[in-house]
Amino acid sequence: MPVPAIQIEGLQKRFGRVDALRGVDLEVAPGEFFGLLGPNGAGKSTLINILAGLTRASAGAARICGHDVVSDYRRARKALGVVPQEVVFDPFFSVREILRIQAGYFGLKGPETERWREELLAALMLEDKADANMRALSGGMKRRVLIAQALVHRPQVVILDEPTAGVDVELRTSLWVFIRRLHREGHTIVLTTHYLEEAEALCERIAILKQGRIAALDRKQALLRRAVHKTLTVTTAEVMGTVPEGLRDKVRKVADHCVELSLHKGVDSIPGILETLRVAGYTIVDLATEEADLEEVFLELTQGRP
Ligand SMILES: Nc1ncnc2c1ncn2[C@@H]1O[C@H](COP(=O)(O)OP(=O)(O)OP(=O)(O)O)[C@@H](O)[C@H]1O
Ligand SMILES: [Mg+2]
Repeated sequence: MPVPAIQIEGLQKRFGRVDALRGVDLEVAPGEFFGLLGPNGAGKSTLINILAGLTRASAGAARICGHDVVSDYRRARKALGVVPQEVVFDPFFSVREILRIQAGYFGLKGPETERWREELLAALMLEDKADANMRALSGGMKRRVLIAQALVHRPQVVILDEPTAGVDVELRTSLWVFIRRLHREGHTIVLTTHYLEEAEALCERIAILKQGRIAALDRKQALLRRAVHKTLTVTTAEVMGTVPEGLRDKVRKVADHCVELSLHKGVDSIPGILETLRVAGYTIVDLATEEADLEEVFLELTQGRP
């Protein structure tokens, strides 16, 4: 067994009366692309801050590449690059200076470090802004600097806490190209995002945190199969007026000749539904079913939807 990239055991964090983490166990393998999801306040950033050594856990332990984040802080920190959720910078430094300072913090200098820094500036489309002061940058650009800053020391493990919040579509796309490249090159990636389609497209394994506990932890495909609902869309020849009594609790949307229903797998039968519509006087023209996506599974798991 290789040493896990991230190893978390019984992690707890209490802020006054708030239990932000209530005993989290988690292992991320080297080279994995891992998604850490959960609603606002679930404890994602708290967990990440503990890994980064910014917050002390109330109980439990965490290791990065085998290094304890408290007793072996320097080595753990060196193996880790964190893109924080909050954008905080000293506004008087330029982008390049910030990256130079960050490299210095890890004792890195010389042509190799500079080459990598320039490569990061290029990959994150920051070349034009490299000598601009941080305060002259837009929100999305500052976020790119955060990403570059997290990567200056080429950490094995890269954790991104909502890297695409408030980022435009073009940059988001180029960001994912870059993150995928890091992953291909062997880096372990942990991603936190509220854009579930991003997580669905990128992550191999996903943990869903809910009120400080892991509500689900599985490979993406297995998680998607857990959904209890799927969608049935029926197109009818007649304009859809009133939906028949027996189907009303399943209706998601009604539009002209179309009704979208949410089916409970294993309970609702499609022939039965079509029959109900037929008896109500509708002629079925077309139908389509759609399996749940990650958003669906997420809502089922976090909101306890029936
Ligand atoms: N420094 C702090 N002091 C007090 N409470 C805190 C602190 N940091 C976090 N909390 C609380 O801990 C809980 C978890 O917060 P956390 O920021 O980890 O959530 P999150 O999953 O990152 O949410 P989001 O999706 O909104 O970023 C929340 O109830 C929050 O209010
Ligand atoms: Mg957060």
